[in-house]
Amino acid sequence: MTTSQAQSFYDAVGGHETFVRLVRTFYAGVAADPELRALYPEEDLGPAEVRFRMFLEQYWGGPTTYSETRGHPRLGMRHGGFAVTPHARDLWLGHMRTALQESGMTDDQVAEFWAYVTRAAHFLVNSADPPQAVDTAEGPRATPDLIPVEETPRPPSR
Ligand code: HEM
Repeated sequence: MTTSQAQSFYDAVGGHETFVRLVRTFYAGVAADPELRALYPEEDLGPAEVRFRMFLEQYWGGPTTYSETRGHPRLGMRHGGFAVTPHARDLWLGHMRTALQESGMTDDQVAEFWAYVTRAAHFLVNSADPPQAVDTAEGPRATPDLIPVEETPRPPSR
């Protein structure tokens, strides 16, 4: 069944309680993940949890408290201060996947949410992985990729 016009996705998945549960599980994963945790500036993840939860609730048709308290989301700009690498994105998405699986949503609802969040996460990548991470991931094949394909053009010799 798809979400009818009368009922928002927010309502269909169980409203506030579902979003509280989802984002709490997500942030429990972030808190236990030293690599990802290092990106979050505040010692207390509680306020970040509330901001993210309000944003998601608003996006999916719930209360608009996010915009009322934070203004326009401008997610690209708001992530500009953090090095969101492909690796960080994948860690982030891993915790989101776990949280969705434990959220109590139906498979269709999880799929719809996942499609959105993966798209958004890919869009928010703003930094390259460090070369060491590439080496680890791809082994010896990574090295030739680091050599420029074209040499710097030289003036014609006379
Ligand atoms: C790609 C991986 C991502 C990383 C590593 C990441 C990291 C962060 C960090 C470090 C913060 C600051 C925490 C705070 O103080 O609020 C933040 C905030 C936030 N993120 Fe992400 N994020 C990612 C993806 C996403 C996605 C996909 C969304 C939306 C679908 C999102 C929505 C938000 C929102 C709404 C805030 C709070 C913005 C505000 O200040 O009002 N993030 N994120």
